[in-house]
Amino acid sequence: AEYDLVITNGVCVTASDVAAFDIGICGEKIALLAPSGSLATAPTKRLIDAEGGYVMPGGVDCHVHLQEPNMFGKGCSADTFETGTRSAIAGGTTTIVAFAPQQRTEPSLLAALDAAHVLARDNCYSDYGFHLLVGNAGEQALSEIARLPERGVTSLKIFMTYEALQLCDRDILSVLAEARTNQVLTMIHAENGDVLTWLTDRLEKRGLVAPRYHAHSRPPLLEDEATNRAIALAALVAQTPILLVHVSDAGATTRIREAQTRGQPVFAETCPQYLFLTREEHLDGPPGFEAAKHVCSPPPRDKAAQAAIWTGLRNGTFAMLNSDHCPFNFDDDVSGKKACITEDFPLGRFRHIPNGIPGVETRLPLAFAATDRLDRLPLTKLVEVTSTNAAKLYGLYPKKGALMPGLSDADLVVWYPNEGSTKRPAALSGLRITNGMLHHDVDYTPYEGRGVANWPRYTVLRGKVVWDRDGEGIVGGKGYGRFVEREASTLNDIWQRVEEAGQFDEEKL
Ligand code: URP
Ligand code: ZN
Ligand code: ZN
Ligand code: ZN
Repeated sequence: AEYDLVITNGVCVTASDVAAFDIGICGEKIALLAPSGSLATAPTKRLIDAEGGYVMPGGVDCHVHLQEPNMFGKGCSADTFETGTRSAIAGGTTTIVAFAPQQRTEPSLLAALDAAHVLARDNCYSDYGFHLLVGNAGEQALSEIARLPERGVTSLKIFMTYEALQLCDRDILSVLAEARTNQVLTMIHAENGDVLTWLTDRLEKRGLVAPRYHAHSRPPLLEDEATNRAIALAALVAQTPILLVHVSDAGATTRIREAQTRGQPVFAETCPQYLFLTREEHLDGPPGFEAAKHVCSPPPRDKAAQAAIWTGLRNGTFAMLNSDHCPFNFDDDVSGKKACITEDFPLGRFRHIPNGIPGVETRLPLAFAATDRLDRLPLTKLVEVTSTNAAKLYGLYPKKGALMPGLSDADLVVWYPNEGSTKRPAALSGLRITNGMLHHDVDYTPYEGRGVANWPRYTVLRGKVVWDRDGEGIVGGKGYGRFVEREASTLNDIWQRVEEAGQFDEEKL
């Protein structure tokens, strides 16, 4: 038999193993794993010699905002499905899950899903799925949750903050109950929105409106409180599985850890901004407008919180490291960060700065750089939190996030040999991130100038090389990326446990 692609002499890394073996690919699937070097002369249409480099399952990034309209009342995404997924593959990510946003004024979830499909279809470079972003938990939306799994959507996100999206506890409970019945995972943005607007109003009254005050309006306690409340509401609804997204703070991390220790199905994600940016470096300091580049929610925290997030990533409190790529241009006074600047407010007003930062392309290189440090991420952990766990939690495994012959799509990221190897190109030493080298459609990166140890050399999506850093760069096609239908989550058997527990019954409370 002839292969379509063989990757030889690489060191393969999965969530469980680091071992040298060759990979034979037929069509879109991984066909064979074989002893290292044994496929070097096998008949194949294309051979990649990965000697000295690591080969991993392609990155799976399940928190990406693309082509969203003015959802938060502040601005529209800078990236389209085309530019965002182009950026993803250049950073080693082969599958993203983006949001299908339902506006508050829109009663239907299915209509929101249809609209997202229209935007993404034939435009993506990576494979993609959708979460529903629930802005209106009315009767119609609640009844449509049952229809999501048949359409390949097994997760939704709700908000405890943002004036345009915030759900009250009653609505949160209704969503949790409906999601539980239909094996849909509920993602929760846990910040107390009322505390935030109260603090914002007080800061504004004192004229404290520059970008840096964004952090003062969202102190850790408001995340801690909302996280605790989300966990309590989920416990009340017969232990409905929930996922706390973009966790930034030590207090929230402790709440999550405690719930997990009790055996409650509570999952959590953190993001690069909480591992690599700090409030001290990026928000505090003189009240200039630059800080707007680091305005996201929750905001980057202090060094102590950052250390707690690293600990949570290492010890398994966080199942995933997703980007929360939520791109807005900096130098754009219509839909970007500068839209908050007026004649009366030359430094803008933080309450009107679109929240979010880009990061889908830098996520894997930043995380890979952390594997160099003994006290940080083991390589297997890197794959677990950037690919495998996301695939399991979002019902994509083992099609995605694994290297299982016959089962897994041939989605791979091939890195250059590490420092010290004679095979490593000299050009890589001193590699630093600059916005110019990225493939998103955003005019800045919050990681400008940061050193990284490595970069994806090849990205392979369903057997096809789509990113070739030493060649022409992006070599995949727009529209090659496909919608992936997702099954119910399989991480930790969560739905089996729910089935055993039986239906939610208020009489049992
Ligand atoms: O600041 C952020 N994270 N904006 C994106 C929207 C969200 O809440 O994830
Ligand atoms: Zn209500
Ligand atoms: Zn959020
Ligand atoms: Zn987000």
